[in-house]
Order: sequence, then structure tokens, then C-alpha cells
Amino acid sequence: MILSIDQGTTGTTAFVFDSSGTLVGRSYSEIPNYYPEPGWVEQDAEEIWQVTQRVCTAALQRADVYASEIKSVGITNQRETTILWDRHTGEPVHRAIVWQCRRSANICAQFATEGKFEWLRARSGLLLDAYFSASKLLWLFREQPDLQARARKGELCFGTVDSWLIWKMSGARAHMTDHTNASRTLLYNLEEKSWDPELLALFECPESILPEIRSSAGYFVDTDPAAFAGVSAPICGVAGDQQAALFGQGCTNPGDLKNTYGTGCFMLAYAGEKHPEPPRGLLATIACDPHGLPGYAVEGSVFTAGSAIQWLRDEMGLIQRAVDSEIIAQSIPNTRGVYLVPAFSGLGAPHWDSSARGTLCGLSRGAGRAEVVRATLESIAYQSDELARLMEEALKVDISHMRVDGGASANNFLMQFQADISDLRVERPRQIESTAIGAALLAGIGSGLWHFHQLPERLLEIERDFLPGMPAEKRDSLLTGWKRAVAACKAF
Ligand code: G3P
Repeated sequence: MILSIDQGTTGTTAFVFDSSGTLVGRSYSEIPNYYPEPGWVEQDAEEIWQVTQRVCTAALQRADVYASEIKSVGITNQRETTILWDRHTGEPVHRAIVWQCRRSANICAQFATEGKFEWLRARSGLLLDAYFSASKLLWLFREQPDLQARARKGELCFGTVDSWLIWKMSGARAHMTDHTNASRTLLYNLEEKSWDPELLALFECPESILPEIRSSAGYFVDTDPAAFAGVSAPICGVAGDQQAALFGQGCTNPGDLKNTYGTGCFMLAYAGEKHPEPPRGLLATIACDPHGLPGYAVEGSVFTAGSAIQWLRDEMGLIQRAVDSEIIAQSIPNTRGVYLVPAFSGLGAPHWDSSARGTLCGLSRGAGRAEVVRATLESIAYQSDELARLMEEALKVDISHMRVDGGASANNFLMQFQADISDLRVERPRQIESTAIGAALLAGIGSGLWHFHQLPERLLEIERDFLPGMPAEKRDSLLTGWKRAVAACKAF
């Protein structure tokens, strides 16, 4: 049995898979998020740990397996979220600063005015943005100088959520992370695949607080049964959630692409073993090669995707349930020229325009509820298409298919429109928990239970293919309209 833990922004899920890849038990529980000031997002690292323990115990019970039957553990997690704890007591010294938190935006703006943007991008593959861990850490040090003094004395540990869980699960015996998580901190050199002394100096981060970096598949440490649900098993798979999903979708050939349709969309394409140039408007990051060793990927994100469907339901009252959007969109042949650009919190890749705002345009007298609902779903596909085109350009490959997962990938209209507008085959797996599958696969490979060429087929099975069928002329004219709508939303 493999225990796979998916610690996400809104909650933790534990999954138990047997050696044939069958899911035999799962349990989920939410974790609280705190918003002490506008734009700030925090979590309590102790609560993350408590909830994780609880769901693991519950998943074992539901699977009806003994803790002793667990042979390997995989961890996947929300990335970038920053935790600092006392090396001796194991207690967090501050609330976890969540990836969405914007409190360190001024630090990034200051470095940008000092001309650090391109330098930093070349070293890390990332952008100078409050999204990543390093500026969050520097914010803490500047706010509480005693923490920096303690850090310099080697009294503190820094980690993303994976490191924190490894620390707790091992009974404080291991301070480790994997390459995918390390590559999201802005402290990691993408070419060297190690912590970067110059980035550490910029963010005033003492090296002693950093975790040791390991490959995503392989032995990390044994869990301590007294600390962790009675389980005494090796942790053998660790990866950030988007990289775990990429691996769990079987995307390990250059150009293999996955798109997760959640609150926003996270699209990653595997790039191979050669460090890609940081692509226009996108990030370069570490992903897992077929053996779980560090390779490269390019990544882009759309800020508003599934949450636009929630907006239709909660703010606009145009639908009662998310599933209604599919039926309503399919009830009309087109939007009659209506476009919605859901830039509710600005536009992400490739525009990176935080001042853009949501825009509904192209309205004529005949446009009504169905057109707006359909335009909302189409907007998710248009935004994803922009990312896929950039990835193709960056990787210099023809992308022929896209693997999908996440809640909104269940929407058949959206998936067909995505296939049509992107002229790609869209493949939806039977098991859309790709993140947890990725962590389980890494744990299986890392412990020698599975070999990459003989993975349990059921974990990668496709449920449905959506084939592109839209004539090129129609596609071009729709895309031209979308570009005009995006320009209007930026001008607003
Ligand atoms: O980069 C942030 C991402 O890892 C968060 O994913 O699924 O917890 O929203 P999720």
C-alpha cells in the first residue's frame, strides 16, 4: 500500500493506493486560511500538521488497512508557502505565509527598480514577484529582526509545506525538500540545481536555515510511528503539486502538456533535461523526468478559471449549480459575438497586468443569460490557449494533445471548446486526482515498488478524448475577437 498526501491551499487529502494502482481509501479535510489585512493570506503550520495527521488516519481506516501495511509515502503540496520554525522546539515562529499573500510586493518592487528583474529571471527561471517564497522570508526578517539573528545562529529552519511535513512526520529527524519545491523559492539556481549563494545574499537568507534538496523519487527518511498515525514507512516521493500532477498525467516527454482547471488554471509542459530559456511571459521550473529525477518544465497560470463559474453562480445568479453552465452553453450555437474576459484580479501569464479588470463586451440586443454563461466558459479555454501557444513557441515543438484535470475538466462543453479553439486533442483521465497520483507514482518508483516502464495502467487511463473539429477560419475569427476583448479589458 502507498499513502499519498496532497496538502493543498484549501485542505489536505490523504489517499491509499494498493500496488495495482487501485484507490482503496481517501479522506479530506479543509484547513483554515486567515486574512489579517487586505491582500494578506496566512495559515497555521500546526493546523496544517494536525489536519494532515487526521486525514491520514481516516484514510487508513476507510481503506481498512493497518498502518504497518504502508510500504511507501508520497507527499505533494501547495508550493511557495513559507514556513519558519524553531529547530529545537519544532514550533513555528510565525504563521505560514501563503503563496497568494501579497505582503512582500514592495520588496519585489524595490528590487525591480534596482534592475534585478532579468538577472533574477536568468538564475531562477521565475519572476520577481511576491508569489515566490524568498521575498516572504525577507519580509519576516525585516519585520522581526530577532528572527534574522536567530536564523544566523542556526536556530531556525525554513521550508515549504513539504519540508514542514517531512520534519513533523519524521519526528524532527529530517530537514529536506525536493528539487521541484526548491525551484519555487527564488533561492534556487535552475541551471546548477542547487541553492544559489547570490540569491541567498540578495534575500539576506542564511544558508543554515535551508533544507537539503533531494530528487523527487527516492528515499528521504522513515516516518516516526509515534509522531505520525502509527505509520513507520519510508517517504519516497515528494513534489510540488503542479509538478506532481504533470508526472501523474504521464507527461515526461518534451512537449507533453497538462492543464489543471481549478480556481485558476496551472499549465505545465515538460521541457526535457536541458535548461530552457525562460520563455516569454512564462516561468521555467523544475519538473520530474521519467525516473523522478530533476528535469525542466515551462509553466504558466491563469488567475481566474473555475472561479469565473462560481461568479456566474454566486454574484450573477445566472446558474444554480456549476454543472448548469455546461447545459446552458450547449443550448446555443455560439455567443453571438459576446466575450467575457474574467480579469477579476488582473491578468496572469502572459499579460501580467494586475490593473486589468473583468470586461464583458460585444453585447447586442439579443444577447442574454445563455450567451454570458457560454462566454464565461469559453474565456477559460481562450486563456489556456494563449498559454499553450507560448509553450509551443518556447519549446519549439508541435503540441498535439493536452492532458487535463481539476474540477472544471469535468465540463464537457469546456473540454470540447478547448480542443476546438486550440486545435489539440484533449485527454481527460479516468482518475482526475492527478496530483495525488503523481505523488503515489513517485513514492512507488522511489521505493522500487514500480518501475517507470511498468506503471499500473489504471492510474493513467483516459476516460474521454475530445477531438478538435472547428474549421480554421472560424477559429481564427473567434481568436481575433478574443484579442480585441483582452485589449479592451487592459484599457479599462
Ligand atoms: O503555486 C501554487 C500552487 O501550488 C497551489 O496549488 O492546488 O493548492 O491551489 P493549490
